Amino acid sequence: MSAAGKIKAPRGTYDVLGEQSSARAVLEARARAILEGAGYERIETPAFEATELFARGVGASTDIVQKEMYTFTDASGRSLTLRPEGTAPVCRAYVEHGMHKLRQPVRLWYMSSFFRHERAQAGRYRQFWQIGAEALGSEDPALDAESICLLAALLAEMGVASARLRLSSLGSPAARREYREQLQGHLRAHADTLSEDVRARIELNPLRAFDSEHPGTRQVMQTAPLLREFLDVRDAEHFAEVRARLDGAGVAYELDPTLVRGLDYYTRTVFEFTSQALGAQSGVGGGGRYDGLVEMLGGPPTAGIGWAAGVERILLAGAPAPAAPVPVDLFVAYEHAHEDDGSGHAPAGAFALLGEARAAGLIAQMELAGRSLKGQLSYANTLGARYVAILGDGGEVALKDMSGGGQDTLAADAVVHAVLRGLRTL
Ligand code: HAM
Repeated sequence: MSAAGKIKAPRGTYDVLGEQSSARAVLEARARAILEGAGYERIETPAFEATELFARGVGASTDIVQKEMYTFTDASGRSLTLRPEGTAPVCRAYVEHGMHKLRQPVRLWYMSSFFRHERAQAGRYRQFWQIGAEALGSEDPALDAESICLLAALLAEMGVASARLRLSSLGSPAARREYREQLQGHLRAHADTLSEDVRARIELNPLRAFDSEHPGTRQVMQTAPLLREFLDVRDAEHFAEVRARLDGAGVAYELDPTLVRGLDYYTRTVFEFTSQALGAQSGVGGGGRYDGLVEMLGGPPTAGIGWAAGVERILLAGAPAPAAPVPVDLFVAYEHAHEDDGSGHAPAGAFALLGEARAAGLIAQMELAGRSLKGQLSYANTLGARYVAILGDGGEVALKDMSGGGQDTLAADAVVHAVLRGLRTL
């Protein structure tokens, strides 16, 4: 019995093909130039981690941990989770490798895939990619401002249209605790007017009430206490300095006291870039400070700030310049296929010439699909090949200059030299 039905990629996942893959290469190159220029080094962490890392780091009450994680038990009975985000893994690596002993701040960037079981739609996937930047070991407000400026620069370079920056400060955990109690009091006092969903989450996650579209809830939230009224003096000063640095750098932002990020580790500065070009999934990238996270994961008290931006969303909202195609120096073609075994395959000399050309540093390709000579030349033309070497039956080679420079007949071992000479005289 044969099972010949087509197998499709799982819902919320996709294949990266053709133009998409070159657009990503452009994005990666820009991110690398901007971030490595600012002292960030690339980090790769594993695709899966101990489930505990995210339960503790991201927060047990968040949507991510409660509903969206791909968690499984492996053959040795451990609970593992496909990473839903990159900050907790980077902090785990910081602790595991004793990076607090390095010169601070330690700055790390990544471009990796992440996994969340969300409702799939345009701009929202179950496996998606993020570019992220994390700086650990300094609470200088200049670092907050620099981090935000780097994301702003990346979005601007990628042509992300009408990106808007929202900014807020969540203060210290103590201030948040007190604020949380006051907010819960306010919500309980108006419980009858709230949506069922918000009412059910008063104890677990009252801040999410600010996100609600429900008319009754929105009305209640208009008179809700705001976190900024609870910031202590040091947090308020820190935030004022971050804003002053951004003002100095000419970065426009809107203060949004209702900015709620879906992760629990944030302290002090939080921010998010949105783009109207994205419709419902308007968040292009966001981040903030997480001064308690490293300690929560068993490390020394360490400040941290960073962001992540969705690769798909940057490409959807942006207008990246197309990648320049790789120029092909030499295309190896042949007059007649090797017929000894009736296969119609390329003659051995073609493969040998390809190898010789590559060893000499040329970008070379050869005919691999048994096309007619005319078809081979037209393919070489689409590749933008500068030279085509056509192997004849007697071992001689016709070297054709595709930029209109005519054709020479040469011995096979003289071809690479002739191409090199021709390219140098360009
Ligand atoms: P996040 O806001 O959850 O933050 O995700 C950052 C970005 O990833 C979003 O703005 C969005 O562009 C993209 N993204 C998130 N979920 C999806 C999805 N299902 N499909 C497509 N794109 C998505 C974080 O992950 C934090 N770790 C950011 C951070 C770094 N904070 C401090 N350091």
